[in-house]
Amino acid sequence: MADAHEKVETNIGFMMVMIVIVVSIGGLVQIVPLFFMSSMIEPVEGIKPYPALQLAGRDIYVRESCMVCHSQMIRPFRAETERYGHYSVAGEFVYDRPFQWGSKRTGPDLHRVGGRYSDEWHFAHLINPRDVVPESVMPGYPSLAENMIDGEEVQHKMQVLKDWFGHPYTDDEIANAPKAVEGKTEMDALIAHLQNLGTAIKTVR
Ligand code: HEC
Repeated sequence: MADAHEKVETNIGFMMVMIVIVVSIGGLVQIVPLFFMSSMIEPVEGIKPYPALQLAGRDIYVRESCMVCHSQMIRPFRAETERYGHYSVAGEFVYDRPFQWGSKRTGPDLHRVGGRYSDEWHFAHLINPRDVVPESVMPGYPSLAENMIDGEEVQHKMQVLKDWFGHPYTDDEIANAPKAVEGKTEMDALIAHLQNLGTAIKTVR
């Protein structure tokens, strides 16, 4: 046994192979069960695929990389839940492609920002954050209020999410998508998305 030990320790190539094997087993033991745990892959009750306007807003959030300053992931620690509300659970993100968990918090976590402010507050804040929060370092996004949402593009996205990823959109929802976003600006869409964030779980704050 002592010999075997010495053999591994004095042969760097062999030791590297052994390390890879051991680390892989450790990784697999942790990761594989997650694919089969229903709490990881099942939507939380009441969660639905994003309606057309929110889906469009979510894509603007992704396009503008809000994620570089905002996480959407409340960790299960008291300091976090007291500030933001119920910690995030996996089933809330089943329709997020790609998810926006992030890891950088220049600004606050946004996972439960839905319903915290009025639409008017968000509008003013997104045009120029310093109008409502004087010390803010967040950039303004005034152009969002001028750009319109393309209804056919949203419709196409919903169809792809349904066909490729099985998001349960009804044919009616897809057919009505252009109407649902008609006359809406990117700002309307982004605010609709923000107001829905994290509302699948009722939280007491
Ligand atoms: C450069 C970093 C930065 C970027 C990029 C950024 N933010 Fe912020 N955000 C902040 C900071 C800092 C605050 C806190 C001060 C404030 O409220 O303005 C904040 C606050 C917020 C708040 C209020 C949150 C609360 O709980 O009070 C919302 C909503 C928000 N940001 C949305 C967005 C959206 C949407 C985008 C992308 C379009 C974005 N932010 C991009 C830094 C950023």
